[in-house]
Amino acid sequence: MMKSTPQKGMVIWILGLSGAGKSTISNLLEEQLQRENIFSIQLDGDELRAGLNKNLGFSMEDRAENIRRAAETARIMAAKGIIVICSFITPLNAHRAIAREILGEMYFEVFIDCPLSVCQERDVKGLYKMAGNNTLKNFTGISSAFEKPENADLVLLTEDQTPQRCCDHLYAAISPRLAGL
Ligand code: PPS
Repeated sequence: MMKSTPQKGMVIWILGLSGAGKSTISNLLEEQLQRENIFSIQLDGDELRAGLNKNLGFSMEDRAENIRRAAETARIMAAKGIIVICSFITPLNAHRAIAREILGEMYFEVFIDCPLSVCQERDVKGLYKMAGNNTLKNFTGISSAFEKPENADLVLLTEDQTPQRCCDHLYAAISPRLAGL
């Protein structure tokens, strides 16, 4: 049986380039939390943009609004004691500031740090190829900016370490906060 949810949850905000490994780490973390009988919910860009954020594109203004809505959604759930795992590119420091402002002490920022060349090589969704031949505009890292975060609570290097090892680091980093919930 699942443990009852704590008073106030937390929001693990996973950010990085397309193909850096955000979804992989999010999935592994969700599985790890499940094994510990801790309920969590994932929110990600593709899913929100298919519904709630259907009217938003990839200009910097739209990305800011995308992040604002995602953070507000996460805030409602975390305030009810849920652990929310958010995976969004969140390309600018200004976008991270929006999420941090909305989520306050519930916010835990994780930068999935992976060189652009490696993400391009992986190209799981074929988007880098499309960006390269200009059939996809405003693509992060190619024709749209990505600023390296300066205030991340945790940095995970997915080029050098296996996804499971990254997840282990993440779980270890959030454990004290989970215990305090
Ligand atoms: S953002 O910048 O935080 O608002 O982006 P996000 O909501 O995370 O959406 C990223 C996913 O959208 C797909 N996609 C693009 N990404 C970046 N730039 C452009 N132009 C673009 N067009 C579509 C892509 O599947 C992203 O998912 P990930 O998981 O990052 O690959």
